[in-house]
Amino acid sequence: MTDALKLGFGSFSAPAKGVLVVFCDEAQKFGPATRKTLGSATDYVARAAKAERFTGKKDSVLDLIVPAGLKVPRLIVVGLGKTADLRPNDFLKFGGLAMGKLPASTSDATVFAEMPGGAMKSEQAADLALGVRLRAYAFDRYKTKRKEAETPPATRTITIAVGDIAVARKAYASRSAISEGVVLARDLVNEPANVLFPEEFARRAGALKKLQVAVEVLDTKALKNLGMNALLGVGQGSARESSVVVMRWNGGRAGEAPVAFIGKGVCFDTGGISIKPAASMEDMKGDMAGAACVVGLMHALAGRKARVNAVGVIGLVENMPDGKAQRPGDIVKSMSGQTIEIINTDAEGRLVLADVIWYTVQRFKPKFMVDLATLTGAIIVALGQEYAGMFSNNDQLAERLTAAGLETGELVWRMPLSPEYDKMIDSKFADMKNTGGSRWGGAITAAQFIKRFVDDKIPWAHLDIAGTGFDSRQTDINKSWGSGWGVRLLNRLVADHYEK
Ligand code: BES
Ligand code: MN
Ligand code: ZN
Repeated sequence: MTDALKLGFGSFSAPAKGVLVVFCDEAQKFGPATRKTLGSATDYVARAAKAERFTGKKDSVLDLIVPAGLKVPRLIVVGLGKTADLRPNDFLKFGGLAMGKLPASTSDATVFAEMPGGAMKSEQAADLALGVRLRAYAFDRYKTKRKEAETPPATRTITIAVGDIAVARKAYASRSAISEGVVLARDLVNEPANVLFPEEFARRAGALKKLQVAVEVLDTKALKNLGMNALLGVGQGSARESSVVVMRWNGGRAGEAPVAFIGKGVCFDTGGISIKPAASMEDMKGDMAGAACVVGLMHALAGRKARVNAVGVIGLVENMPDGKAQRPGDIVKSMSGQTIEIINTDAEGRLVLADVIWYTVQRFKPKFMVDLATLTGAIIVALGQEYAGMFSNNDQLAERLTAAGLETGELVWRMPLSPEYDKMIDSKFADMKNTGGSRWGGAITAAQFIKRFVDDKIPWAHLDIAGTGFDSRQTDINKSWGSGWGVRLLNRLVADHYEK
């Protein structure tokens, strides 16, 4: 949790406190304010760089303890590489990189947001600050013991030195809202399923009310009345009640059709009667990462008062084996009226999405919709953990998502949809079956299934985030497991194209 972090902006001339972080380019050139602060230490830094073979290459770091000629106990030099090539996402990473280099015990640090040519632009400094914030996140609420060296101070104060404090603060305001959305999404993904079951998830989504988001919870009874039997079938083996949460943020023109985001919220996926093997099954507490992203995104949009009408709809269930659980061979009637033969109870996410997507289309007639789901292992086989799989019925939406991905570093790669794949989910007994039968093209047949519940007049994109929603590797801006993936991507999509 990041509450112990005090992140603020200051001036270059105020004396640096604690650890000092500065930037240089690939010619090891510093900006004027940095040179002034380094003063007589400049020579020492140059010699240390040479000894350490530090060249200022992008993302490289020179870490100097008790640097001669400086009052600070530690100096960290981060390489920017070629400054002309830098993109917004790079500044985010630099912030994360700098934060990651601070020793756990650091209580004060100053980061000089300066490049050789002078102070970073406020947007760049604000991106740097966002990177610091996201990297500082830790999910440690269940740790009761800690090694001495890992014990953080009660508060950490990090000051970003900038050219214009007021403008940088203003640029950071929207990013602060985004960071809260990402942190919320990460918390939800990281929580274990004995704590975060569907009702508790819905309760946490209810906290968005304090940001003027309208939050409705449809309980099992309401879902039965609506005919959401595909979703309810998944949850029927669980002791926990299934629900659907609808979140609405109206920051746009009154009466204008909203943009819609839909999330798979399987709070735990055992596979059901088609039970999963034991290895790594604990990861399936993160099978609600799509829903977590939608809640985090709604939090971010409302927090920065985005000038858009947006709805978030999430389907919350737990997939368990039980005497009451759904069986392979069962046939369910979805809210759309289409019938589904259950071949594998582990292909449950698409059943949840089928009803939630249909409901969203009928009720909101959105301008476009994006669904996010940790849907298939097959997408991890195809793309690994670098890109999410994207399936879309609309080239413009797909292109906008691709561009937003490049801007934010939350990358998407478009995958195909076609009638040939669609045929693979035809069923002998019902309108369709819930798997393609073979493992081949498993992410595609899953997307084809969802497509049968989409109105093709509405631009739609499906993001299979099985590889990106949680991650055991560490990245520059995340050292926890839940990534909060998609919050920044979709916030960017909205900000670039859909705000009035
Ligand atoms: N939640 C899983 C997919 C998943 C796997 C997400 C690993 C993240 C990491 C999904 O419900 C599932 O079990 N999919 C099956 C579908 C198959 C039975 C057609 C899969 O991918 O094996
Ligand atoms: Mn499953
Ligand atoms: Zn699942």
